[in-house]
Amino acid sequence: MKLTDVREIVLPKILDPRGNLSFFENNNQIPFEIKRTYWIYDVPGGETRGSHAFKTSNEFIVALSGSFDVVLNDGSKEVKYSLNRSYFGLYVPKLIWRRLENFSTNSLALVVSSRKYDEFDYIRNFDEFKIIKNENKE
Ligand code: TYD
Repeated sequence: MKLTDVREIVLPKILDPRGNLSFFENNNQIPFEIKRTYWIYDVPGGETRGSHAFKTSNEFIVALSGSFDVVLNDGSKEVKYSLNRSYFGLYVPKLIWRRLENFSTNSLALVVSSRKYDEFDYIRNFDEFKIIKNENKE
């Protein structure tokens, strides 16, 4: 996987004077079947979450509230996405190193994953990540 496999996805937005509504479904707006949902919240100023990559998990990240940056690295290049709209998400495929930082006060990061939680799917060491990238070259 390369940074060109990352996709910014604009979700449906049902405008309504009573309040707007957005959604996504398995294999529809996002390119995988959801096995797990988690969210990151109450992040103290200046903290960073999620400095790691996954061997097989694909993820989709939405800033449901507030804003934060998602910094992605494919082993050779780095790119930063600023998420700050609840109808806009980032598809991050497997084997992309990612960290979440610059959280605003009261921000809420929603993440859906193609896999259930499995510590063995994590690559938590960046040097190991680069070795795996060189072996796979995908
Ligand atoms: P982790 O993904 O390691 O977060 P970070 O990379 O920001 O440190 O998650 C932190 C801990 O939370 C992890 O050690 C185990 C637990 N956890 C679960 O039990 N289930 C989950 O779905 C997630 C994402 C984490």
